[in-house]
Amino acid sequence: MKMAEIKSVQVSLDRNICEVLWNDGHVSRFHASWLRYNCKCQKCKPPFPNVYTVDVLQLPDVLTISEAHRSKDGTELFTNYDGDISPEHESRHQASWLRAKCYCDGCLETKINQRDVITRHIKSNGRSREIPKMDYQDIGDDPDRGLFKLVDILVRKGFCLMKNVPVEHGMVVKVAKKIGFIEPSTFGEMYEVFIKDAESGAYTDQKLPFHQDQPTYESAPGVQLLHAMRFDDCVIGGESMLVDLFEAVEVLREESPKHFKTLTEVPVIYDTIDLNADPPRYLECQKTHVHIDYFGKIVGVNWQPATNTAPQVREGDVDKYYEAYRALLRIIRRPEMQFRFRLNSGNLIAFNNRRMLHAREAFVANGGTRHLEAS
Ligand SMILES: [Fe+2]
Ligand SMILES: [Zn+2]
Ligand SMILES: [Zn+2]
Repeated sequence: MKMAEIKSVQVSLDRNICEVLWNDGHVSRFHASWLRYNCKCQKCKPPFPNVYTVDVLQLPDVLTISEAHRSKDGTELFTNYDGDISPEHESRHQASWLRAKCYCDGCLETKINQRDVITRHIKSNGRSREIPKMDYQDIGDDPDRGLFKLVDILVRKGFCLMKNVPVEHGMVVKVAKKIGFIEPSTFGEMYEVFIKDAESGAYTDQKLPFHQDQPTYESAPGVQLLHAMRFDDCVIGGESMLVDLFEAVEVLREESPKHFKTLTEVPVIYDTIDLNADPPRYLECQKTHVHIDYFGKIVGVNWQPATNTAPQVREGDVDKYYEAYRALLRIIRRPEMQFRFRLNSGNLIAFNNRRMLHAREAFVANGGTRHLEAS
């Protein structure tokens, strides 16, 4: 790309905006405060990132530009302001910096779409329900390349099925540590899933509905891993299922904007209260199912029927909430939304728990065992 060069500079009539015409015809409009607060002159530039040199409250509430011009070669912008902290102060900005930070509608649109990684990949994935796979060998042969492959699949698809992971106790932790550090939950760094006497449906042979793990936390666990130590052939059922909740919520927005809006506004309460547990647990978190940013992009989703307790919201929102909740649940239940597979022994599934819902079919053990290790 050609270097950004300023062709001409003009100040608006109200002196609030500096309009920059670039040599390629592009136009940027920078506000007086925006330029002054982000001044790059030697005096204003902080010596360290955590120090500030300009007390902005010493500037007038309404800042106006007294003068603006460019350097002869067009690579710098100079601006002066009425009532500046020191009368001789002159702001300097590199043209390349200004161009990269342009916030015109066109430049904003490009930046928003670049940042919107998940939705962009959902669109390019289409409706394919193919299970993204890799082999444990990929990590063994060339750890950097293997890890990149895993993370790349996780970012694009939200999950990855890894085959031929050695069936050794603790392997799931070993793989998890390749991705990043492990954030222990109330269950510790690793926990075992098989039929046992415990206060959770996970340790039974029952069907587990679509859910995310632990939305009771302000920020729920990120990447989760499940490694099948044993899944005997005689066990019938027990298939794993995943739904991309970002995708489901986008479908809801398309089909029923009103319900989508409700789920961004009316909060639910997730709680896990077990004072007899060791250590005792009292976790409670109130949040909306869907979080959107200033630009309307989805930045967070959560769903867990088991800990989603009676909403405590204004009277007029209760029915509205349940209507929207049911609309999203219907989308989640659509078979075409679901990825389905059997975690045979040696298979490991890694998924982004802040994006994907997971579920399990009921199973009949038939004298066999289904045993997973999770991290
Ligand atoms: Fe779960
Ligand atoms: Zn300055
Ligand atoms: Zn622009």
